[in-house]
Amino acid sequence: MLVRILFCALFAAAVESSIISRCRLARDLRESGIRLSLIPDWICLAEAVSNRNTTARGGPYGSDVHTYGIFQIGSNIWCDIGKRGKKCNVDCEDLIGDNVEESISCAIEIYADYGFSAWSAWVSKCKGKSTPDISHCLRD
Ligand SMILES: *[C@@H]1O[C@H](CO)[C@@H](O)[C@H](O)[C@H]1NC(C)=O
Repeated sequence: MLVRILFCALFAAAVESSIISRCRLARDLRESGIRLSLIPDWICLAEAVSNRNTTARGGPYGSDVHTYGIFQIGSNIWCDIGKRGKKCNVDCEDLIGDNVEESISCAIEIYADYGFSAWSAWVSKCKGKSTPDISHCLRD
């Protein structure tokens, strides 16, 4: 019984840990050089497309396109499957997991080309809406 409870607790912790906290994401975004005033929009984006789930996968869409990580980056243009490549020169699998640095730098490239409108979920869930208050996260 105790073993079972312990196992469940560990399992719950493992599932839980795939969700990056708002504050940690805010700090990682800030460290990647994103303007303070835009960080709430970036957080809203991550919540809109993946619920801040660092192991989120989407698709297949259309002709076998998959999407990866907190920003649901697509294998059609941005990341390659099984090797580094495409516009972000990144392996899609490297966009999955605890370290979100590569997801952030690739998302910055997408943003540079298309703005937040590149993500239809940002348009429907974040554009013109109130965004998360993360000011307490970045005070030091
Ligand atoms: C995160 O996404 C993965 C892959 O889609 C899923 O298996 C997992 O349950 C999700 N985690 C949470 C906490 O929703």
